Amino acid sequence: MSETSSAGKDALRIRVMTIDDFPEVFHIGEEVFTAESFQSLYRTWDEYEITTLFNSDNELCLVAEAGEKILGFALGTTVTKHNSPWKYGYLVWVGVRRDIQQGGVGSGLFKEIKHRMKEQGVRMMIIDTSADNQPAIRFFEKQGFGDIREHVYMSLNLSRKSRKKPVKKP
Ligand SMILES: CC(C)(COP(=O)(O)OP(=O)(O)OC[C@H]1O[C@@H](n2cnc3c(N)ncnc32)[C@H](O)[C@@H]1OP(=O)(O)O)[C@@H](O)C(=O)NCCC(=O)NCCS
Repeated sequence: MSETSSAGKDALRIRVMTIDDFPEVFHIGEEVFTAESFQSLYRTWDEYEITTLFNSDNELCLVAEAGEKILGFALGTTVTKHNSPWKYGYLVWVGVRRDIQQGGVGSGLFKEIKHRMKEQGVRMMIIDTSADNQPAIRFFEKQGFGDIREHVYMSLNLSRKSRKKPVKKP
């Protein structure tokens, strides 16, 4: 647990998320992970994201609070790859209440989750976000991320009837 700065009258506290925090975290996520900015991502924000990450590594599920109010959260996990000796730290979701964004809460959450991942032996952190989510990209750059690689997502709608090409007459 760490106290990083002050938000209004109450000091900002970063701590591990508990089950009681689930509803508030879920609603903050609903507010900030909008369909417009996250439409191309293969993960969508829902209650299972919170419970699955909490069950896999609750030490990497953090909330930032001031007084009794949760201001933001960071949910991560560690990943090992088949052919790599490295342990990766995947920061899956980070969100801060819209009305207090750009006030240092995201940086506080990031600092703490990075510290915890390092303690767990993580050698490289990874994140992903939509290519047009410029505020988040700036935020991650500010935290030291670089080497941006763009992925292409494609989709095939299986419920649509396929139209056969007309056969050309000789
Ligand atoms: C991304 C997010 C978590 C950042 O949290 P935050 O509390 O607003 O970030 P901070 O105040 O700690 O900002 C740290 C730095 O990030 C950059 N940054 C943050 N928000 C920015 C914005 N809207 N535009 C440009 N740069 C921004 C700035 O460089 C800032 O440093 P500065 O204050 O010295 O200029 C928050 O904006 C958010 O919840 N966004 C919606 C959800 C999202 O996109 N999450 C990331 C993908 S999972």
